[in-house]
Formats: sequence, structure tokens, C-alpha cells
Amino acid sequence: MTIESALVNDMSGSGLDNVVAAETILSHVDGNAGQLIIRGYHLAELASWTFEQVLELLWSGQTANTMTATDIRMQLAGARERAFALIQPQTRALTPVEALRLQLSALSDTETCPHYIMAVAAVPVFTAATIRMKQGLAPIAPDPSLGHSADFLYMLSGVIPSVEQIKALDTYLTTVSDHGLNASTFTARVIASTEAGLFSSVIGALCALKGPLHGGAPGPVLDMLDAIGEKANIKTWLRDRLERGERLMGFGHRIYRVRDPRADVLKEAVSALQDGSDRILFAGQVEQAALALLEVKKPLRSLQTNVEFYTALVLEAVGFPRDSFTNVFAAGRMAGWTAHVLEQERLGRLIRPQSNYIGPSPR
Ligand code: ACO
Repeated sequence: MTIESALVNDMSGSGLDNVVAAETILSHVDGNAGQLIIRGYHLAELASWTFEQVLELLWSGQTANTMTATDIRMQLAGARERAFALIQPQTRALTPVEALRLQLSALSDTETCPHYIMAVAAVPVFTAATIRMKQGLAPIAPDPSLGHSADFLYMLSGVIPSVEQIKALDTYLTTVSDHGLNASTFTARVIASTEAGLFSSVIGALCALKGPLHGGAPGPVLDMLDAIGEKANIKTWLRDRLERGERLMGFGHRIYRVRDPRADVLKEAVSALQDGSDRILFAGQVEQAALALLEVKKPLRSLQTNVEFYTALVLEAVGFPRDSFTNVFAAGRMAGWTAHVLEQERLGRLIRPQSNYIGPSPR
């Protein structure tokens, strides 16, 4: 067997586990050590940064212009106003992620605002508007004096958010900003490699993110907490699900074999908002029971808490409805998607792997 055919056999039927498909300066995930490094910083160090500072870090050297976090804040404010004029009211009948997909698709490749700025700016504008329109309320115009996270919350409620709420959302967006070659980022890079353009690349990424095995899980985490209801039901409910062969949302990860470092950062963020609340205590009890059961039921696989578990609690605490959680994830991950697209475009090499034909020979 040649090395090539051994590699092909190793990948067949799998999810390309352990295949290195790109070189990047953007982020690194060490699944055994439970570490996420973003451009030379451990995630825990970035947790206190604003989202604009993380954008500066990720975009630095990737664009023609050198931009500080302050420049980025100003440019995003202008782009949010442009995006507000592009809201499509008829999307109110769709789910928030479908509405986001449709409205991003309407952005023109001839848009004069830098596309990476427009893509980041548009997600909160379209998302907040959709949430409000679905509630029968009018969209609220962005306030250019606010930072990106603050304006997202303002467009959602019409109330200037508290410092603690802004901090929690900044921490969330920063925490999910980039994560190696996850499914959606890989999708973005494949599309970018065809020179289809940044909007096409990030829309493809959003489509990949939307699935429950990737970014579609945090809403279902809250559904699970609600369905369990009270402490007395926890073990029976979780055991029943596992016995039926179902998956517990918010647990397990393709790369992490230890606890996802993002779960701790987000647990701290939500605790700062709702310290000692019944919701957090209950979630902690469900988490502990789930981990204990998963260890017994799936002894061959280390299944730990992933980012989605505490995402659900953070986003609920700052006021997002659960059917919009994937959009808020996209608002943060758009930082990474745009940076990867810019990096891929600079490389200028078409991504075109091969497949292993296992069909019948020609008759
Ligand atoms: N609950 C119960 N069992 C699980 C779970 C879970 N959450 N996750 C994996 N398993 C089991 C599988 O049933 C399988 O068991 P088996 O070998 O007895 O058939 C074994 O663990 C391996 O499962 P795979 O699907 O091969 O693991 P993979 O690495 O592909 O899965 C994934 C990763 C998709 C995230 C998975 O753990 C899962 O479905 N989790 C629940 C959904 C979720 O939380 N998604 C968000 C992920 S985080 C993110 O993408 C941002």
C-alpha cells in the first residue's frame, strides 16, 4: 500500500479527522491540552478584550489598511448604519438564521465599504431587526456612538445596556471569534479559494454553522434545561435520553478530549451577570450529572462540556431569544471567517482535494 492510498483509506468514511488542510497564523486548538491560542494569545487573556480589539488582532497584516481598534469601531458604526438601510422586512416570516442568510446574500459584491467591515457590521443589524420584527416591533436604528456589542444590545431592546451586559457580550463574541479549521471556517476558505468573494465565502460559512452539530446547539441546550425542569428529574431525564441513543446538547467535541476552554470563560461571564442565580446553579447540576453519566455510558470516548452549554446561559442572560443564538454565534465567528478569507485570498491557491472512488468499475 502506498502512503497516498494509506492516507486515503484512513480518511474514508471519516470526518477528515487529523487531516491538516491549511496553514494559518490565526488560531490553534490543542484538544488534548484544552487550549485555544488566537494569534499568540491564550483565550483566557483575550476574554477581557473588546470585540474591536480582537478584530484588530485577527485582521492585522491581512488587509491593505492598518486599522486600530478605534478605527475599526468607527468604521463598523458607519457600516451598521448602511446595513440598517438594507433590512428586508419580508424576512420576518423566516427563522432568524434563515433571515440572516437571505439578507447577507443580498449584499452586493460591488459594495464600496470594505467587505470584511460590512460583513461584521451587518450581522447584528439584521439579527436585531429580525428578532424585533418577529415580535411585531419596528427595528431600532443603530447608535454610531456605541461600540459593536453595546449597539447590538441597544438595537435589540432600545435601551442602552449596562456595562456588565456589554462586557458579557464582548466576552462571548471574543470567545467564539476563531477556532482553527472548524467546519464553517473550512467552508469559508474553500469558497474563498475559488475567488468567489468575501460575502459568498461567509454566507457559505453561515450555512455550515447552522447545523446542530456545529453552531445550532445552544438553543437546544436551553430546551434541555427546561425539559428537565427541576433537580429531582435530572438523572432520570438524562439517562433516558442516552438510553434512547440521543445526544446531550452542549457536550462532546471533535477536537477537545478535555474540557473546552471556552466553556470556563463563558461560565465566568454568566456568573458575573447572575451570580448565584437558580438558573446557573441548576445548569451546574445538570452539567455535573451529564458528565458523570457520559463517563459511564460512553467509557471509550472522553465527552466533556463544550462551548455551547454556557453560550446558552450567557445569551439568555443578555436578552437574546433562543432561536437567535446561532446568529449571535455568527456575529462573533464572523471575525474569524473574514480573517481566514483574507488569509486564503492572499495565498491564492484553489483548494481541490481528491476523493477515493469506491463505486463499480466501468462495465
Ligand atoms: N451525547 C451523547 N453521546 C455523544 C455525544 C453527546 N453529546 N457526543 C458524542 N457522543 C457519542 C456518540 O454517540 C458516539 O458514540 P458511539 O461510539 O457509541 O456511537 C461517540 O460519542 C463518538 O461520536 P462522534 O459523532 O464520532 O463524535 P464527533 O467527534 O464526531 O462529535 C459532536 C462531535 C458532533 C460535537 C458531538 O459530540 C455532538 O453531537 N454533540 C452534541 C451537539 C453539540 O453540543 N454541538 C455543538 C458542538 S460545539 C461547536 O461546534 C461550536
